[in-house]
Amino acid sequence: MNGFPVGILGTGMYAPERRLTNQELETMVETSDEWIVSRTGIRERRIAAPEQATSDLAYEASLKALAAAGISADQLDLIIVATITPDMFFPSTACILQEKLGAKKAAAFDLSAACSGFIYGLANAAGFIATGAYQYALVVGADCLSRITDYTDRNTCILFGDGAGAAVLGRVPEGRGFRSFELGADGSGGELLNIRGGGSRLPASEKTIAERNHYIYMNGREVFKFAVRVMGNAAEEALRKAGLGKEDIDLLVPHQANIRIIQSALERLNLPEDKCLINVDRYGNMSAASIPVALAEAVEEGHVREGDRLVLVGFGGGLTWGASVLVW
Ligand code: UT7
Repeated sequence: MNGFPVGILGTGMYAPERRLTNQELETMVETSDEWIVSRTGIRERRIAAPEQATSDLAYEASLKALAAAGISADQLDLIIVATITPDMFFPSTACILQEKLGAKKAAAFDLSAACSGFIYGLANAAGFIATGAYQYALVVGADCLSRITDYTDRNTCILFGDGAGAAVLGRVPEGRGFRSFELGADGSGGELLNIRGGGSRLPASEKTIAERNHYIYMNGREVFKFAVRVMGNAAEEALRKAGLGKEDIDLLVPHQANIRIIQSALERLNLPEDKCLINVDRYGNMSAASIPVALAEAVEEGHVREGDRLVLVGFGGGLTWGASVLVW
């Protein structure tokens, strides 16, 4: 990367208290704990309380990231919230978060790249800091997928959960921080994973609600194939841009959608499971929150040491993908 070296100064995560277990899902749709665990690796997910919205989850994660970085909210120059479940259409969840945090001088905007959103957000924020335009940025991945999940659809409702992860970015010493970003999109796959209703194409109406167009639609099998292909490709391309090889990876922090997708990425990168943060069993797929929550847990649990080379990689609706190599 050109410009000033930029890295992560602090991370934080928040997951709501309420757990939705496979056993509970067995009472809601025709499924079984055995099917869910063997096909996805998921055992439980967290569900936001009725009074919690995405910005509330983002706020909790942000407070922890700011404390870990030793930065106060009024020092932030920029807030980016990656989400597909904003509190409302507008104002952006980033603006709502800016007000909650009291980050008075920060510019704020939301970013829509589904599960790849956190990596897209990191790339944006890192660019602003690398040029010298900004000193500190807060990047949050936050989603309340339970609000857009159809709990009568067994193809999707077993997968998703709610949560938020945050990172404070700033300048770091030479030789540390982000080494590369690899971002991509393939809009031709947009119909594989989407919410059709409620936008300008199909405004919310009694009909869109009756047809359940306000919920996530997914062609799981096709998304699975795409994910397996793109996770390895994106990680390898980010490594190539950073001038590193697979053997240089100390820790892989992948999007947590399905244990089988993560295992195929590990195979492709020749990595053992202990070089990968896996929490899909406890949280399911939290979309933009998955990678920053996994990263925050890796840091909290002592899996990341100074000088370690990390690869973050994810994929999602759009279709989109993103990977980054950074030296901690
Ligand atoms: O962040 C990006 C978001 N999305 C993803 O990452 C999802 C990627 N896709 C996947 O993870 C997998 O495709 C799923 C977990 C969604 C599905 O696993 P699969 O091994 O691809 O199953 P399948 O779709 O091929 O379905 C196999 C069978 C089907 O029955 P038939 O048609 O073979 O009779 C499904 O109806 O399993 C059935 N099935 C279920 N059975 C029990 C689908 N969902 C369930 C369920 N419980 N919850």
